[in-house]
Amino acid sequence: MQLARGRFGRMRSAACAQALGVASWGDRGSAGASAACAPRRRAARCAASAGAADALQQPASPPGPGDRSALIDLFEDKGARLTSAAQMAWAQVLRPGDTAVDATAGNGWDALALAELVGPRGRVWALDVQDAALASTRARLEAELPLGSAPELHLVRACHSRLQEVVGSVAARVVAFNLGYLPSGDKSLVTRAETTVAALEAALEVLQPGGLLTIMAYTGHPGGQEEYDAVKALLTELSPSFWVTAETRLVNRPTAPILLVVWRRSGAVAPGAGGQRRRPPAGAGV
Ligand SMILES: C[S@@+](CC[C@H](N)C(=O)[O-])C[C@H]1O[C@@H](n2cnc3c(N)ncnc32)[C@H](O)[C@@H]1O
Repeated sequence: MQLARGRFGRMRSAACAQALGVASWGDRGSAGASAACAPRRRAARCAASAGAADALQQPASPPGPGDRSALIDLFEDKGARLTSAAQMAWAQVLRPGDTAVDATAGNGWDALALAELVGPRGRVWALDVQDAALASTRARLEAELPLGSAPELHLVRACHSRLQEVVGSVAARVVAFNLGYLPSGDKSLVTRAETTVAALEAALEVLQPGGLLTIMAYTGHPGGQEEYDAVKALLTELSPSFWVTAETRLVNRPTAPILLVVWRRSGAVAPGAGGQRRRPPAGAGV
């Protein structure tokens, strides 16, 4: 199965293992399991393809000695890069045929990961303000995606604050932001607090219930700390009745990128119900 290949084969197997109750965060027992399996819904499919039809009846067992968890894979094999953590989260959420948006196309690494996950029946929008970034993204996708496996691709030169206008009425399962500037590109073309916040506002509108918004933020360049503060302020305001927000950072590497995650609770908010986003006034109850 084409989506089982590449960087995500292992983590999707871990997702299958999790769905089967084999080992949370672990890949024990996942050998031969099917790709791109979200927990629960695809547990049966995972079990069938793994030749473990009775696994659903088995109670979950804790990881044992010698098990490698996905978390340890992240810390060790992936060099504790939180960009990898974001991609691992997408792999837990995206299903073949889904729609995903990369709000900062850059060199196309994230767009490629999203494209692999949604597969040929899916759709990927990738936005960037630079032609060079869009060209780089196109080249990467053309080089890396096997013939016939590419989703419907929309590479758009636009500021991501226009995200809603660009994607139209599309409901996305994942929207990804990787802020900052194009590595080895023009560092003056950098994401900025004001447009980033506008773009995140738009992203919250297009995100479907059960969808995931991820933001990689960098504080080491001029304007980076201010942008991160603005992003965090926006996320802090979101009503916990409708949104789960979280932040992951490497506390012993204070200048390392920070991963912020927003989960739109399943079924909690009708699409476009922007008015329900904000934390209610004090005393109104949550
Ligand atoms: C860190 S790079 C993105 C990395 C990329 N996701 C990847 O996988 O290679 C940040 C990108 O954001 C782009 N960018 C800056 N301001 C933007 C804006 N207002 N709207 C959309 N993209 C923007 C830059 O041109 C740059 O290519």
